[in-house]
Parts: sequence; structure tokens; C-alpha cells
Amino acid sequence: MEKFEFYNPVRVVFGPGELKRVGAEARAIGQTALLVSYKEPGPLKEVLGRIEKLLAADGVKAVPFYGVSANPTIQQVEEGVKKAKAEGVQLVIGVGGGSAMDAAKAIAAGVLYKQPLWNMIVSRHDQAVAVSPTEALPIILVPTLPATSSEMNAGAVISNQQTLEKSYVFANPLYARVSILDPELTLTLPAYQTGCGAADAVSHVMELYLNGVDDTPLQDRLMEGIILTIMECMEKLKKDPRDLAARTNLMWAATVAWNGWTQPGVASGVPMHLIAHVLSARYNTTHGASLAVVMPAFMRRFWKTRPQRYVQFAERIFGMETKGKKPEKLVPQVIQKFEDWLKGRACRPACRRSASRPRRWNRSPRRSPGSASDPMASWAPACRPPRRTCAKS
Ligand SMILES: [Fe+2]
Repeated sequence: MEKFEFYNPVRVVFGPGELKRVGAEARAIGQTALLVSYKEPGPLKEVLGRIEKLLAADGVKAVPFYGVSANPTIQQVEEGVKKAKAEGVQLVIGVGGGSAMDAAKAIAAGVLYKQPLWNMIVSRHDQAVAVSPTEALPIILVPTLPATSSEMNAGAVISNQQTLEKSYVFANPLYARVSILDPELTLTLPAYQTGCGAADAVSHVMELYLNGVDDTPLQDRLMEGIILTIMECMEKLKKDPRDLAARTNLMWAATVAWNGWTQPGVASGVPMHLIAHVLSARYNTTHGASLAVVMPAFMRRFWKTRPQRYVQFAERIFGMETKGKKPEKLVPQVIQKFEDWLKGRACRPACRRSASRPRRWNRSPRRSPGSASDPMASWAPACRPPRRTCAKS
């Protein structure tokens, strides 16, 4: 176990029906709020209408900024900042999945940021000019998709269509003042979004589980508990998508998966995310879909660097008998089981809808994907149809 510091100031209001508190929570901070969500809200439109009414009932003026897309761009953040400044808002409320919440966080920081906004994205090609934000407007987050844990961490992932980058900023001012987690808001989520969210949440745990250090028994069991809980919830939701108890437990598991509790002492990077971000930056693939195809491929490529960890995964997650079994035989089997789970519960709709038919940005990549000079050439197969990609890697 490595040395660590831990800090997380987010106040969480959790439970079915708790959305009703959004007006009072906002009123305790300010009188004018920028309400950030998607430009095509779909079923979320009804939720946004309810929030506008709840804010008005508590005397808070809502300034809608419904201009965010999946894989939100820095250009959208710039538009949001412009509106926030013009209206003199005192707080920012993000409503939606990780994209809407991340955009809301970046806008909240961007209002007070003195440099070009893309400079706040610290993990990027040109890191020399990157500067983390040191302040932000107060943030309230209302997640409607269990996935990113943006509601309880200090991160935001933003894309840049000009440079074809997708990267992130982690800074303490980006922690929400309060996050309202109401599982009832997730009851009508389609299988596709639910699956992508589950794949993303599991990937957050897997990054640390596979790529951290040894001798972290408490963290291991916490991570295993999160994975198993997500798997159990997905099993129940396959039978009944409106199972509120399963939706409730899935929501909390996804939040805990990346709110920092699993990280202390584990000292891991997030290599699978870095690969998946490139896929999204180049092809605008859904985040969870990218990870669903990257994870099994990554595991097959790197399991020999840490075989015992994969044996533990086989034993504790899939209940496989490991005694007397050679890792060379056992590990490929457990990776296949994990991939089968992704296909059956999370990955399949993701692969079919997104990774198999990648949506391109409007602007063409500077280099043709798959060309000899393209650093992504070896990963290009990940965007082919699932039967070839998920099974082969
Ligand atoms: Fe993620």
C-alpha cells in the first residue's frame, strides 16, 4: 500500500424522490442558477421542467443552458460561460449523465478562469500551457445516469474538436457543493444507456484493480464488492428495468466506483481510459462503449504483468476454482467470462449502437485512421463490429 492523502467535500443527498430538495439547496447558495443539460434532452425534458419549477418555487431564477452533447466540447463550455457571465449567475446546476455534469463543472470554473478555457484541461497534448482552475462558482449536480461518478469527484472530461483531443481536468474547485442522487430519475433509462453506464462504472474499478499495487486488501474487497453489486443490479434490471431497488443500488455503486474511496494507497493510472478517450476523440464513440471494447483487449495484452491479480479476479468475481490451475489456462477463461458479461449485460448494445458504427465529428481527423502514420492504427480494430472486436482483440 502506498502513501496517500484523501479529500472529498461533496455533500450527497441520496434517495428516491429527493429531487424535490433541489430548489431549497440552490436557494441556500444563490438566487440565479445556470441550468446545464443536453441540447437534445429527450426524456430528460420532463425532469428539466420539474427542476425549473422547483427552483422557481424556492425563488431561484433558472437560466437554461441546454447546449451540451455527449462528449461535451470546449466550444460548448465557452458558450455556457458566455451565458453565465451575461446573466450574472451565482451557481451552476448540472443535470444529466457525465457529459452534462462535466460541462457544468467546466463552465463553473470557466466563469472565473482568466486564460483560454482549453488551458484548464491539464492532461492534454500540450501540457506546457495547461493550468488547473483554482476557483469555480458553486456547483449542484443531479445525475440521471449511474456511470461516471462526476457527481462526487473533482474531474471533468472535455473534448476539443479542433485538436481532436478528449482529456480531463481534476481540481478541487470542481467538487460539487451538493449532489442530489434520486434513483427514480433512472427508472426509464433505456438498456443502451444503462449498459454503457455500467461498463463505465466497472471500468473505473478495473483500472485500479488491474493496474494498482499489491497489499491493498481492504481496497481490493471494496472494489470487488462494487463490481459484484453492479453485476447483480444489471441482472435484476435485465428482468425488470423498473426495479427501483436495483436502480437505487446501481446508482450508489457507480458513485462509489470513482468518488475516491477505492483509490487510497492503490497508486494506479487509468490506461484503459486513456485509450478509450482516443477512440471517443477520433470517432465520438460513447464513453462506456469505448471502454467495453477496450477492457478485454487490454486484459489479454497485459495480464502476464500481474497474473496473480487476474487469478484473484477469477476466484472472487466469477467464483472460479483456482487451486492447482495454471494462470496460462485460467486467466484467458476469466477474461472471456468478463467479456461475455460485458456483451450480455453492458457491451453488446454499446458495441452495436456505437463502437460498431462510430459517429465521426464533423471535422475529419488530421490523419486517416489506420494509416501507417496513425498512432491509433493498432487500435482501429476496436471500432469494427463487436463479433470480431470483442472476441478477438
Ligand atoms: Fe469513465
